[in-house]
Amino acid sequence: MASLTVLLLHLLLMLSSASAWYYSYYGGSLTFTPKGQYSDGTYKVELHNKQTTIYCNLNYYSCSSGDCGTQTETTSTGFYSNSMGFYWCQYDTVNKINLNSNLPFEIRYPTNVSPYIGLGVWASNFQNSMANWIMTAHVDLGTRSDTGESNRSPITDMLPVLRVTRNCPRSFNMAVFDPDGDKVRCRVPTNSNTNECGLCGLTAGFSLDQNSCSLKYINSNQYGNHPIELVVEDFPNKPITLSYSDGSYTTKHPLSPYRTTIAPLSKLPLQFTVYVDYHNAPSCLDGDYFPVFSSPTPRNGVNLPAYVNRTLEIKVKSEAQYTTIYDLIVTGPKGISKRKISTEEFIINWTPTENELNDHFPICFVSEARDTYYQVFQSEPRCVIVDVGSDETTVTCNETTITVEVEKSYLIRHNEGKLHLNDFSDASCNLTTRSNTTHLVAVMSLNTCGTTVEEDENNIIFKNMITSGDPTEIISRQNDVEIVFSCAYPKRSNLTLGFTHKNPYVFTEKGFGAFTFQFEFFQSQRFRKQIESSTYPVEVYLKQMIFMQIEATTSIPNTELFVESCKATPYDNPNSRISYTIIENGCVRDNTVEIYNSSKSQFRFGMEAFEFIGAHEQVYITCSVILCETGVLGSRCSQGCINSNSGNLRVKREAVAQSSRHTISQGPLHLAKTSDSQASGPSLNMGLNIIFIVGCLLACGVVIYRSRRSKAKYQPLPTFETD
Ligand SMILES: *[C@@H]1O[C@H](CO)[C@@H](O)[C@H](O)[C@H]1NC(C)=O
Ligand SMILES: *[C@@H]1O[C@H](CO)[C@@H](O)[C@H](O)[C@H]1NC(C)=O
Ligand SMILES: *[C@@H]1O[C@H](CO)[C@@H](O)[C@H](O)[C@H]1NC(C)=O
Ligand SMILES: *[C@@H]1O[C@H](CO)[C@@H](O)[C@H](O)[C@H]1NC(C)=O
Ligand SMILES: *[C@@H]1O[C@H](CO)[C@@H](O)[C@H](O)[C@H]1NC(C)=O
Ligand SMILES: *[C@@H]1O[C@H](CO)[C@@H](O)[C@H](O)[C@H]1NC(C)=O
Repeated sequence: MASLTVLLLHLLLMLSSASAWYYSYYGGSLTFTPKGQYSDGTYKVELHNKQTTIYCNLNYYSCSSGDCGTQTETTSTGFYSNSMGFYWCQYDTVNKINLNSNLPFEIRYPTNVSPYIGLGVWASNFQNSMANWIMTAHVDLGTRSDTGESNRSPITDMLPVLRVTRNCPRSFNMAVFDPDGDKVRCRVPTNSNTNECGLCGLTAGFSLDQNSCSLKYINSNQYGNHPIELVVEDFPNKPITLSYSDGSYTTKHPLSPYRTTIAPLSKLPLQFTVYVDYHNAPSCLDGDYFPVFSSPTPRNGVNLPAYVNRTLEIKVKSEAQYTTIYDLIVTGPKGISKRKISTEEFIINWTPTENELNDHFPICFVSEARDTYYQVFQSEPRCVIVDVGSDETTVTCNETTITVEVEKSYLIRHNEGKLHLNDFSDASCNLTTRSNTTHLVAVMSLNTCGTTVEEDENNIIFKNMITSGDPTEIISRQNDVEIVFSCAYPKRSNLTLGFTHKNPYVFTEKGFGAFTFQFEFFQSQRFRKQIESSTYPVEVYLKQMIFMQIEATTSIPNTELFVESCKATPYDNPNSRISYTIIENGCVRDNTVEIYNSSKSQFRFGMEAFEFIGAHEQVYITCSVILCETGVLGSRCSQGCINSNSGNLRVKREAVAQSSRHTISQGPLHLAKTSDSQASGPSLNMGLNIIFIVGCLLACGVVIYRSRRSKAKYQPLPTFETD
């Protein structure tokens, strides 16, 4: 009888005012962010509320328990989204509140109830056409004994409207994140007296796993809206106390199977609507009719770093074989936008502002495809958590050293154990050495810790980065932290960039284990005395022979070293725009080069110091080297010099017969100018002398240039990019 009345009422309302339901609800959520205590003793907190209605409308909360403080500022933005046949408006509201204490309080939505126009009721659903829409949140800003800071809320969200077909099961994994590291649980409220729910229970066909916050749709005969009401709660991992400004305190306990009622730290509503479509999908396999996400789409639940005033870009790609991707439906913080870059790819953009610093924001998205009959097939929804950091990074450069200081953000602290520079095999490159509690600090000379060199027309640029990427993985897909920094030095300045001698290069390769290459300069062709690393840069005179040795050390017997190429570059950069070829494809290209007799694990050679050095402040010798098994026919080592016109040089040989190519370098060499010693000698006719010497230097430069041409020994050196 009662149900008949409801049905009649429903029909009547549908007939009389179908279009008057425009403010009814599809869902809502709330989280809070403590913003600290102020000198006048007051506390500030921000409430982040979302409400989704058919047409844009904003409902307010009332204070249902405790002192809810006074609102100082409210900003709201509403925007429309749609899915085939559905339109909805999501209001994103931030309420800034001043509180006289940090005692817990509770707020309740809505304040405006007018069922006739849909205010305060769920959008019509098969269970009940007039179900109340109610949300209650318990906010506790007590000072935690474990962090010494205000308790923070778990961060979670879901798209307000999701669609499934009747026949295909689907999991909705809510990304739940807690900045305090608490355990987060989701539950379905069932008691309407608690004001946590209007429907108070999941409909048949749905189930929730409380611990993973995973909602499952199994199947349902009831197509239409299925409102989902959840309460998200956080619990500490061990007992903690929360202390309050009035001197009181309370103990909070972790979840335990032995205690039936444990009060959570916070209680937050998470409500949305799953619409069960009438149609059945011919295949439930993701990728057939339902889109499936593919790389580089971030995984569900990952934390992504973002920085104030810098636009975060999230690339999302999805594909489906028998349907066409139509849209990416996105929900996220204020100001989020998306754009389509191809049929299958979208980019989500968001630029955090200063007010969002150190906060965490969920972004959820779902890919929607349609078939030729306009039937909708949605992918699984995904949510990521964006951590807003400050990017307070100072880079200080001088002639010898790069110093980086990075303020530790949430993300850095979270990844601290994994962070490293490009190369950290040297103990001086360990980030823990100089870092303190508030900053990551790294100090490295220009050629250590994996610093790379690049150049453009005017500058030499030294680059390195602090990253959490696993260095043993070749492709790291989930780099949580990557702070790239660089120092640029103008080429035309008089700066002599200071470098230190390079220690042996260590490599590890399958089949070869760990091996090293060491590149050293020697004093004579007897190769007995190596040039002391403390005397770098190595001073050489024009036409003086330079003696070099590359030596491989490995524990594997029967290996040989092969030097495939060597060149001179003005900066420690193998890809320098300016370079002079010494050895190429195993063939000597400079005719002053002498190769000396040595063991199979060494390569000894010498060449005349050349004017190239004089044209630049300094020169590095960079070689590409390979380690081979001895006596393997066809290995690069056994082939020796290959002239460039004799076919493909990069044929891949058996994996174990040879190592890959490694680039090693040593330097710098510095050309000692004979005129320098003259200028430093005692001289009485100072003025005249100086003019004379300067003149000579300039003239000498010209002479050098001419002699280079006339002898045709050195190719003219390009002074800018030629390739
Ligand atoms: C971000 O931009 C605003 C407005 O342009 C500026 O006032 C603020 O200083 C910037 N903050 C940072 C950290 O760059
Ligand atoms: C460069 O900076 C480092 C680190 O601050 C310092 O130790 C070194 O003395 C500086 N060198 C010069 C030439 O100023
Ligand atoms: C850096 O130093 C810390 C403490 O001395 C040590 O625990 C850590 O293993 C070092 N890291 C690397 C990559 O060597
Ligand atoms: C940590 O290092 C930074 C940068 O060197 C410095 O500004 C800060 O004062 C240091 N903090 C502490 C607590 O030592
Ligand atoms: C380089 O040194 C010369 C002579 O000392 C000076 O005249 C010139 O201005 C300097 N150039 C730069 C870029 O500092
Ligand atoms: C150097 O060459 C001679 C023959 O030219 C050879 O007998 C000797 O073993 C070689 N020395 C080394 C170290 O390979």
